Amino acid sequence: MGNEVLSNLMTESEAFPPSEEFAAGANATAALYGEAEADREGFWARQAERLHWETKWSQVLDWSDAPFAKWFVGGRLNVAYNCVDRHVESGHGDQVAVHWVGEPGDTRDITYAELKTEVSKAANALASLGLEAGDRVAVQLPMIPEAIIAMLACARLGLTHSVVFGGFSPAALRSRVDDAAAKVVITSDGQYRRGKAAPMKANVDEALEGAATVEKVVVVKRTDTDVAWTEGRDLWWHELVGSQPPEHAPEAFDSEHPLYILYTSGATGRPKGILHTSGGYLTQAAYTHDAVFDHKPGEDVYWCTADIGWVTGHSYIVYGPLANRATQVVYEGTPNTPHEGRHWEIVQKYKVSIYYTAPTLIRTFMKWGVQIPASYDLSSLRVLGSVGEPINPEAWVWYRENIGGGAVPIVDTWWQTETGAIMISPLPGVTSAKPGSAQKALPGIGAKVVDDSGAEVANGSGGYLVLDRPWPAMLRGVWGDDERFRQTYWSRFADQGFYFAGDGAKYDKDGDVWLLGRVDDVMNVSGHRISTTEVESALVSHPTVAEAAVVGASDPTTGQGIVAFVILRGNVSRDEAKGETATAALRDHVAKEIGPIAKPRQIMIVPELPKTRSGKIMRRLLRDVAENRAVGDVTTLADSSVMDLISSGLRSDK
Ligand code: WT7
Repeated sequence: MGNEVLSNLMTESEAFPPSEEFAAGANATAALYGEAEADREGFWARQAERLHWETKWSQVLDWSDAPFAKWFVGGRLNVAYNCVDRHVESGHGDQVAVHWVGEPGDTRDITYAELKTEVSKAANALASLGLEAGDRVAVQLPMIPEAIIAMLACARLGLTHSVVFGGFSPAALRSRVDDAAAKVVITSDGQYRRGKAAPMKANVDEALEGAATVEKVVVVKRTDTDVAWTEGRDLWWHELVGSQPPEHAPEAFDSEHPLYILYTSGATGRPKGILHTSGGYLTQAAYTHDAVFDHKPGEDVYWCTADIGWVTGHSYIVYGPLANRATQVVYEGTPNTPHEGRHWEIVQKYKVSIYYTAPTLIRTFMKWGVQIPASYDLSSLRVLGSVGEPINPEAWVWYRENIGGGAVPIVDTWWQTETGAIMISPLPGVTSAKPGSAQKALPGIGAKVVDDSGAEVANGSGGYLVLDRPWPAMLRGVWGDDERFRQTYWSRFADQGFYFAGDGAKYDKDGDVWLLGRVDDVMNVSGHRISTTEVESALVSHPTVAEAAVVGASDPTTGQGIVAFVILRGNVSRDEAKGETATAALRDHVAKEIGPIAKPRQIMIVPELPKTRSGKIMRRLLRDVAENRAVGDVTTLADSSVMDLISSGLRSDK
């Protein structure tokens, strides 16, 4: 593996054992590891008992067609019934499911009984459009209750949802709609962002021009923004859903019925549709939400700050917490609107007890200053979580001291869109936590760090992270592309049958796992996965660009920042190429092609790119430039003077 990854090794510091008091009341126990090890399938069968099954399974796992897994074979259940109705039937209809907080300050509390009515009406509405189980529905919505209701209504009818992050461009939405052949798109008129209403439906309209599969567009009114209307295609949510009967009888579906597709970046440019199914996914989402966050239904107030456009929002806002009868906060806006204490104001108001966020946001809070959280009452917090990228020990310690009052457990949770649910994490009340380490595969999960040949490395050594056993929430494939599924995840260690996660990792002296970042051409910007190739394709689609190479350079706030090296076409004059306008236009172009999250932090106009004799771009060298380091070994370059040319060109441009 690359030196840049190994050089990233973090120092192993002091551990924080759980308090006796916390350990005494914790959902998880140390015994779980041994129980799961002794009988893995029996362990997962017990976890599946958390759910209501219309028909019980006859076999826990069928791995005979590996890498295509079947979990809880023959079992039948309705995912929405499990997340909503059964809590009402067990007498908790009046419990608040969602404390929703809108960015402009409007709020809405939704009880489980109300959620059941809303989901039933929405299900009746979607059924009235002629949708049938197995059809795909695309959802591009801001963080409003209707986003959760729409997803659950799909699940209730066996429709497969494909949620597309609200910040994605029309082109990105269109490619996802086409790939899944979605029949219906659910969106809103607009969305609030930093105190302003921004259009949403206008983007959807642009995306859907000439889209062959889309029959209806359902529009939630959120910002009262004027919208164009396509008669016969567009329907208002409040009219369509508002007029439906409040009862809907849920039908049970096969445990392996497709629940959702969620697109994620891979090493190549084209996003992959990650497919998740029902019974195994919900089992692991519920189990991990219970064990990792120590969630107590009816007592805790839980808040996951992710957007439903990402997998964290799917598993830890919608499916896991609702299956576990959580009361949770859902916040629509950005953390500094209208002020930098917004999150802490919400924690104080709703007495949030479990808070789950990303390292990039923790580092942003650090920048804003300790005086901000210090002026709120955060004493309700008892578990803090982190996800999306390695959390540096300084941020971990800051989080514990300034948000957790120096006492609460922090869970650093490693997982992926593909894994569907948390895989590696400390267990609060059990694990002695180490800042910066995700530590140990959860009971029931098998993870290893291996070398190039697939052999497990010794403690103190680094290598590749693999998952060596199937798990219930694992992806069931890449939508419409079995070959890509095998190739991407199962070919690297085919002999051993390991799942290749794409992350570098190491064991410390105790055998705890430390994640070290991606080993493929995937960048992690603020916890969002973006492939270098995807951004390169966007850049070369601009008429002035001849060639482009993109690297992720380390960034103190966002983890990595996107840095692009661009060769302009011969007919672009040197003057045109110079200055802010050329690079600003390219940054905007990338935002338009993919979305604002993919905007390069920096674009450098260069005369050449460093390539090997076989024409492969040596990103390692470009990363050296982007991170202001001495350029490394250039001996494998086809032309070793290229790096001098790049460096001198950069100097003269400044
Ligand atoms: C990639 C997956 C899982 C939900 C959010 C991201 C990185 C994720 C951690 C962590 C170190 C982490 C990995 C992984 N990652 N969590 N706790 N420590 N790295 O989901 O977009 O599918 O990205 O995020 O590189 O492969 P995703």
